[in-house]
Amino acid sequence: MQTVAFGKSGKQVSRLGFGMMRLPTKSREDGSQVIDREEAIRMLRHGIDRGISYVDTAYGYHSGESEIVTGLGLKDGYRERVMLTTKLPQWLVNKYEDMDRLLDEQLAKLDVSCVDFYLLHALNGSAFDKLQRLNYQKFLEKAKSDGRIKNTGFSFHDEKDVFLRIIDDYDWNMAQIQFNYLDDDHQATLEGLRYAGKKGIPIVVMEPLRGGALATPPSDVMSLIKDHPGGFSPVEWAFRYVGDFPEVVTVLSGMSTMEQVKDNLRIFESVSVNSLTAQDHAFIKALKESYLARIKIGCTACDYCQPCPQGVLIPRIFRAYNDAYKFNQPGSLKWQYGEIIKENGEGALCVECGQCEAVCPQQLPIIETLKEIDAIAR
Ligand SMILES: NC(=O)c1ccc[n+]([C@@H]2O[C@H](COP(=O)([O-])OP(=O)(O)OC[C@H]3O[C@@H](n4cnc5c(N)ncnc54)[C@H](OP(=O)(O)O)[C@@H]3O)[C@@H](O)[C@H]2O)c1
Ligand code: SF4
Ligand code: SF4
Repeated sequence: MQTVAFGKSGKQVSRLGFGMMRLPTKSREDGSQVIDREEAIRMLRHGIDRGISYVDTAYGYHSGESEIVTGLGLKDGYRERVMLTTKLPQWLVNKYEDMDRLLDEQLAKLDVSCVDFYLLHALNGSAFDKLQRLNYQKFLEKAKSDGRIKNTGFSFHDEKDVFLRIIDDYDWNMAQIQFNYLDDDHQATLEGLRYAGKKGIPIVVMEPLRGGALATPPSDVMSLIKDHPGGFSPVEWAFRYVGDFPEVVTVLSGMSTMEQVKDNLRIFESVSVNSLTAQDHAFIKALKESYLARIKIGCTACDYCQPCPQGVLIPRIFRAYNDAYKFNQPGSLKWQYGEIIKENGEGALCVECGQCEAVCPQQLPIIETLKEIDAIAR
């Protein structure tokens, strides 16, 4: 496993980090999904035993179960071997005291006395305005001085100008951004990444495979990858791209199976900084262009819009829509859409309340796209 120094701390950290947001799940008797704890812990420990030393969870992942499973996975001496991150669910914060209360609740769920990084989760312009009003800096300084957190940071989903404003507002120890070869000009952007780097703020990357989409390319993108003499898989190209930037310390991957853990450990044996050639960059640019010509909606399946009050399974519907176009099988949309509607009941129709669009980190036109899909697929 390649390692790098984590910013000014100088502490070595693995370039592959374990994202605890897409763990394997199983069905309960009532049909709801819970984490397959035994398998998730086996995967996490396998990764740590082979060099992963950065673990990322959050209050809301897996409906609140991720922090508990992360804490269980880090027992038996594993906690001391990793840098542990969790995040303040800023959407639940209405007054200063909420921040203290939520952090205490999270430490209890994780069953640890402190976390290495505490991030303000999923910041956008309005969330940041609110936290500024509530004096987030005082809270972070206090939590550092009483030993509950060691370092501070934020994760981000908005436009570049907002990112620059947040970066300049406080002495952050890191920033976590969505970054992959389709998103270098979107969200924080490559320019934002470079800016943070100049200020000595290390970047942790999330969604390097765009929520998994870059692992299963459409046939024309796949042909380009197959014809390349390097012999890299689609996942390798995506990881090698983000891992090439010296500003990026750790690349988070939300791994759902042991095979993915093993594959990613193999790939990160050789993902090093500044190793891509000009030809590699040109090749990745060609991949991006082929992709952009096909994807219908940039949903990363983050689930922030779930549950919809009407029960509309937005990420599943969007996935079906994208898959149908990515794989050039428009007929499959009709079938999959029908199955989703059937499973969820005919009443699960959008009433245009706007709740999903207000929280979507990608700022997607969800309502219009649902209408478009319904017109094509019903
Ligand atoms: N703070 C925030 O706002 C925020 C938002 C998003 C994510 N995050 C954090 O960042 C982490 C990384 O983001 P992400 O989970 O979206 O990462 P990602 O790497 O873009 O997507 C993860 C998905 O990629 C697929 N995958 C991973 N390794 C693979 C492999 N070797 N071969 C084939 N497919 C593979 C899996 O999808 P399938 O199983 O479907 O194939 C997996 O669920 C999250 O787990 C979470 O900890 C934070
Ligand atoms: S706008 Fe439609 S899809 Fe979005 S939350 Fe409201 S009902 Fe659900
Ligand atoms: S529509 Fe937006 S919020 Fe919902 S899963 Fe997709 S990217 Fe996430």
